[in-house]
Amino acid sequence: MKFAIVGSVLSIFLASVSSQTTFPAPIAGSDETVVRDPSIFYNSDSKKYFVFSTGNNISIFTSPTLNGPWPEDDVGSVLPDCSVIDLPGNCVLWAPDISFNDGLYTLYYAVSTFGTQNSAIGVATSSSMEPGTWTDLGEVISSAPGDSYNTIDPNLISDSVGLQLVFGSYWDGMFQIDLSPGVNDQASPLPGNHLAGASGRPAEGAFVYKPTSQPFYYFFFSDGVTPVVGSPRPAAGTEYKVLVGRGADAQGPFFDELGNDLVSFTAGSLVLGSHDNVFAPGGQSIYADPISGRDVIVYHYVKLSDPVGGPSYLGINYLDFSSGWPVVVA
Ligand SMILES: *[C@@H]1O[C@H](CO)[C@@H](O)[C@H](O)[C@H]1NC(C)=O
Repeated sequence: MKFAIVGSVLSIFLASVSSQTTFPAPIAGSDETVVRDPSIFYNSDSKKYFVFSTGNNISIFTSPTLNGPWPEDDVGSVLPDCSVIDLPGNCVLWAPDISFNDGLYTLYYAVSTFGTQNSAIGVATSSSMEPGTWTDLGEVISSAPGDSYNTIDPNLISDSVGLQLVFGSYWDGMFQIDLSPGVNDQASPLPGNHLAGASGRPAEGAFVYKPTSQPFYYFFFSDGVTPVVGSPRPAAGTEYKVLVGRGADAQGPFFDELGNDLVSFTAGSLVLGSHDNVFAPGGQSIYADPISGRDVIVYHYVKLSDPVGGPSYLGINYLDFSSGWPVVVA
């Protein structure tokens, strides 16, 4: 009986956590900074944050603080001469993922064209992240029409198992392969370990993260329709949003708060949805901020007050994992 009461109190608690329906505004300082699929890292030598974005052969924004400024006139490119990958789209690079490995900043990017599987994930490295310092190592993995997966939306995880690359969008979902010994060395067959998404679900943008405060690995992803120029605004509830599951290992499986494995079609607990003037948030990355000591989420969103297909802006918030699940806070 006592056990049953504890169980029902626990499930009420979990249900209340899962139903976060009000969200704080993005922290001040970036609501005019146009980005897509942002990722962030801090360089403790130059004492600057670097935000990388889709566009401009991967845009580089820098700021001394998370509150900006992120000056437009200083924006550089990771690969100003395009990617060496020989595919259509190699001058329109997507979805940067930044990390630090073996003494070098490491940036994965995708080469593709909208809605196709003619795609590849490439990687570039730098000792400082500054424009003009990036070396393109080229292709890591690729996909073609007929494959069950699409090799876009990279995310690197490094744990005791080693380096692993997560990727995928729509099609049969998001997958994970091993990389070894280097950041551009595929070490296990495609598509690899199936972690989330399935059956053409509009799920993409995986990001695996382990907060130091928790024993779990969290699998964040974006789900839904992203507003594009020339199409109507997606119906309420179908638009882009950030979902999550968690598991004991970076290799999965990952489960949402109701216990559904993320490979099932509707699984995922809401982390961040549309609110106020913030519409269709997604393209998220998570970062352990060494300055505040807090977990940070960066994402893009469009403004409800803009015309459909308008630009997307940089959103930054903190995440509170103290309940065991990420809650977006100011
Ligand atoms: C990428 O760089 C090439 C060569 O400098 C340029 O022609 C192209 O417009 C750039 N792509 C984007 C999306 O800015």
